[in-house]
Amino acid sequence: MPLKDVFLQHPERRYIMFGGKGGLGKTTFSAAAAYWLASRGKKVLVFSVDPQASLTDIFKKDIFGKGPVKIMENLWAQEIDADSHIREYQDEIRKKILDRYGLPKVPDEIENYIQAASAEPAMEESAIFDAVVDVVMKGDYDYYIYDLVPLGHALYYLSMAKVYDEWINKITKLREDMREYEEMVSRLKHEKANEQDEILQELLYIKNRINTSAGILTDKAKTAFFFVVVPEAMIIDDTRKAAQMFAQFDVPVAGYVVNRVIPHELLQRKIPDYLRNRIAMQDTHMTELHQAFDDHVMAEVPEMERDVTGLPMIEKLAGIMFA
Ligand SMILES: Nc1ncnc2c1ncn2[C@@H]1O[C@H](COP(=O)(O)OP(=O)(O)OP(=O)(O)O)[C@@H](O)[C@H]1O
Ligand SMILES: [Mg+2]
Repeated sequence: MPLKDVFLQHPERRYIMFGGKGGLGKTTFSAAAAYWLASRGKKVLVFSVDPQASLTDIFKKDIFGKGPVKIMENLWAQEIDADSHIREYQDEIRKKILDRYGLPKVPDEIENYIQAASAEPAMEESAIFDAVVDVVMKGDYDYYIYDLVPLGHALYYLSMAKVYDEWINKITKLREDMREYEEMVSRLKHEKANEQDEILQELLYIKNRINTSAGILTDKAKTAFFFVVVPEAMIIDDTRKAAQMFAQFDVPVAGYVVNRVIPHELLQRKIPDYLRNRIAMQDTHMTELHQAFDDHVMAEVPEMERDVTGLPMIEKLAGIMFA
């Protein structure tokens, strides 16, 4: 089924992801899909957590860490600055501690703990994930297009429920460490320890968010994940393996989009043997690709005459991708 029809027949799939190995065209396809939907009157947000700011590059507009930036009618782009989210998160913890214990300054041991916890990869991933959940839950767009980071990393996100578990365990530990503090402060203030467990409330809140977001990410009805592939033996192989892993995470793989196909029309012209051989080789890989992914290849996008940046190029590519 052509990519266009997949979108037209499933308007309920509002969460769109393009994934694949590094440099194959995830950002390009995300931008093209966003452009195509927006030009059909849908309100679209295309977003990423990529610190490399590739949406900034492709739209030729400074987007990084600026919230949703309007690109054109119906189209917004957002690049989440994960580091600033971590800092915000730290500040929130500090503020809670100060408010709760009426301290003028965060005690050194606690500050050290906050610093150490923030250096943990789990914390960084959680901050990113949290930001994504925020974007998806707060906005009122018709479509959310998530321009993913390269595959290995994306898989990591998708196993985020586990990472989150880890994080919750850390907070629980922090909570226990703090209980000692709490008792000490209470004794000093001649108060009884606060019985209401705010932190526990927070944990429950987070758990609820995890469930909601994991529900969105793996909801076949609302989500469509597309693999970006190119006709090369190694990529086909890796993608096949990745697809199997994704299946284990219940990711609803909606199809495959092939990028960088050298146009066959060139064969009609006088071209060097070099190019002729390349095309013949690609044909072999295309056959292999179609065999590997059955009928799930939804579009073939040619190698363009130049890199894809700026709206006119995006429009051109979208026209082919959604033909
Ligand atoms: N069909 C195409 N024709 C010509 N250039 C292309 C095509 N598709 C992608 N490119 C170019 O290839 C480069 C990589 O594409 P893109 O940034 O979309 O890949 P990516 O998968 O998002 O990479 P990363 O894994 O780093 O996020 C970009 O410079 C882009 O303009
Ligand atoms: Mg990219």
